[in-house]
Amino acid sequence: MVQVKNITKSFGNGDNRTEVLKGISLKVEDGDFVVILGASGSGKSTLLNVMSGLEKPDGGEVLYDGRNIAGLSDAELTKFRKETVGFIFQQYYLLPHLSVEKNVKLGAELAGSKDYKKVLDAVGLGEKMHKYPHELSGGEQQRVSVARALAKNPKVLFLDEPTGALDEATGRMVLDYISSLQKEYHFTIVCVTHNLNIAEMAGTVIRMNSGKIIETYTNKEQKTAYEIGW
Ligand SMILES: Nc1ncnc2c1ncn2[C@@H]1O[C@H](COP(=O)(O)OP(=O)(O)OP(=O)(O)O)[C@@H](O)[C@H]1O
Ligand SMILES: [Mg+2]
Repeated sequence: MVQVKNITKSFGNGDNRTEVLKGISLKVEDGDFVVILGASGSGKSTLLNVMSGLEKPDGGEVLYDGRNIAGLSDAELTKFRKETVGFIFQQYYLLPHLSVEKNVKLGAELAGSKDYKKVLDAVGLGEKMHKYPHELSGGEQQRVSVARALAKNPKVLFLDEPTGALDEATGRMVLDYISSLQKEYHFTIVCVTHNLNIAEMAGTVIRMNSGKIIETYTNKEQKTAYEIGW
């Protein structure tokens, strides 16, 4: 279980200081599909960065099975991230000097997994694996970033607007693939999005506004990527 307790986070200082997370607490059960909804600027990406150990909170705790990652050293945090989390970023952060294949292989190697070619095929990039990021469309780059995160076989997969750059058909395909892998490998998903439709795929939905959680609910039924609206 991932438990977040009273997280605070500010940016800037003096008069420019903005409190972006104002005391966030939540629990994510193993194997759940959690969607975090909220308007632009409400702090969703910041929360995801803190939950996944990319950024340290100013206050509060982030517990993975009871272990507070906010207290880890940089080296311990790197090891934790390598072994435990996969991240699909809002901006894709591909390595520009590496081919599609090498970008994905790197993710897999970090976690000692070998199946990266299968993942490339599944996101429809098998044919493009020798291309470089600048030779791809935005949606294709996003799919590389999906493949890179999944090739690691993470325990918790964090997604930040995973379908932001994708057309409907590709968006549904990527979501369907992620959810089919979840059924096979039982990892946990935490997905941030503006898209209310994606919330219908979730087990738990968390709504944020201005750095706070304003509502949490569970869905009785979870729709598939092909049943939701777009
Ligand atoms: N590194 C940073 N330095 C300064 N301000 C930041 C930084 N990161 C985020 N912010 C500010 O924090 C607020 C929340 O940003 P965040 O990226 O978490 O929002 P979001 O909910 O993900 O929005 P969007 O839906 O547009 O991606 C914004 O006002 C943003 O300007
Ligand atoms: Mg964001």
